[in-house]
Amino acid sequence: MNIKSICCIGAGYVGGPTMAVIAQKNPDIKVTVVDLNAQRIADWNHTDLKKLPIYEPGLDEVVAEARGRNLFFSTEVDKAIDAAELIFISVNTPTKNYGAGKGMAADLKYVELCARQIAKVATSDKIVVEKSTLPVKTAEAIQNILDHTGNGVDFQILSNPEFLAEGTAMRDLAVPDRVLIGGDSSSSKGQQAIQALVDIYSSWVPKENILTTNVWSSELSKLTANAFLAQRVSSINALSELCEATGADVQEVAKAIGMDSRIGPKFLQASVGFGGSCFQKDILNLVYIAKSLGLDEVADYWHHVILMNNHQRDRFAKNIIKTLYSTVNGKTIAFLGWAFKKDTNDTRESAAIYVADLLMDEQATIKVFDPKVTATQMQADLNYLNTRPEDENATYLKTERDPYAALEGAHALAVLTEWDEFKTYDWQRIYNKMQKPAFVFDGRNVLDRAALETIGFIYKGIGS
Ligand code: UDX
Ligand code: ADP
Repeated sequence: MNIKSICCIGAGYVGGPTMAVIAQKNPDIKVTVVDLNAQRIADWNHTDLKKLPIYEPGLDEVVAEARGRNLFFSTEVDKAIDAAELIFISVNTPTKNYGAGKGMAADLKYVELCARQIAKVATSDKIVVEKSTLPVKTAEAIQNILDHTGNGVDFQILSNPEFLAEGTAMRDLAVPDRVLIGGDSSSSKGQQAIQALVDIYSSWVPKENILTTNVWSSELSKLTANAFLAQRVSSINALSELCEATGADVQEVAKAIGMDSRIGPKFLQASVGFGGSCFQKDILNLVYIAKSLGLDEVADYWHHVILMNNHQRDRFAKNIIKTLYSTVNGKTIAFLGWAFKKDTNDTRESAAIYVADLLMDEQATIKVFDPKVTATQMQADLNYLNTRPEDENATYLKTERDPYAALEGAHALAVLTEWDEFKTYDWQRIYNKMQKPAFVFDGRNVLDRAALETIGFIYKGIGS
């Protein structure tokens, strides 16, 4: 089967970049990305490529190449569904904040709505590909809805989990470690569907990097990959506390263990804690699935990865408070960075939100500078956390568009995101502007400790 028309439901951090690359690499396939959010679609269609709704290095160039040629962004969901032979579901699957599984299970509301919409609209056979991070067995639910509410057309469901990391998404998409496609190879229609998706990726991904499995293996692999990555971060973060208590340096330890080829050097950077839309959500989901199956030891094992992450954020905030003579009431703490990692404007589950919240509990004023995150987004993040009235969030959290302004008169500065530009600042100028003693709490271990200490800063990194 030669696919000529693709629809992607959901123009977010996954759908947008992924479809841009699929369209770039397959100029003969028409790719339409749809979203209910009209503003988001308008931003994707903006003539000024700096106004795209997602900041991702290199994304603007790919959009410039494909948009209007074979890549389209639209709010006409039904029309795009019906016109497509293959539909990606790329909508958000946040952790449930109500009812059964609250705080743990993934909320499949948006995915289910998509399935129902496809069932209602489709008048010809479709391949439906789940692209969002989903709990295992979701494909089964989608299949069920489509089979029982559709217009008698045939639906083949595939799982094609996304492994891109934000900030490096364009490279991850262009040169993926692997593309994983789960499908039902027991029927000829299932085989054809798998092959159709393999063909799309084969335009640029070597065949040996395209892995096909059954649907459940594919879904579980996505959760497992994220759980393993997050576990490495929690493991090194657990060690960071031990290092601080004993005089070892966690960066030296990370280097030493990372040189063991069985361990490898990646994902051993101690930090204030991992964030992002995937790690916590996927692990909680894994824990929920294990618990539902009565596998309590498995659930507890993975849950500790999250508990360690919460502890690390907490510990960071408490260390600031303790170091500032056990009171931050009325003091100003400047934050460099709010995004959950560098090179993205995404703030979901960012450690900065939780650290700010804890400091605001102690009535500190937070002044934030982030190169890509808007003031509105920061307020929205705190309001979503919902620990205090919105007007208090607005009172205690201030945003600056200039880093030097954020640091003016601050009692301490905390680095929450590892943006490269922080290293290039005029640190003597910053020192002159801050209250003395001037403290730096480097939650990412990215600043030059020796240089800062020479200027006169009191520097506290993670794990040393
Ligand atoms: C992750 C997975 O890497 C990706 O494959 C999946 O598709 C989605 O989830 P992402 O969340 O975009 O990607 O970013 P990632 O680079 O994995 O970082 C996650 C968090 O861990 C960030 O907050 C990062 O700062 C933190 N981290 C990562 C560390 O604290 N230390 C490390 O050594 C690595
Ligand atoms: P992700 O990181 O998974 O891409 P995002 O929240 O960035 O998550 O993007 C998901 C997008 O899906 C949002 O822009 C949201 O408006 C969109 N969406 C959710 N449900 C639907 C739906 N039923 N139809 C169309 N778009 C949807």
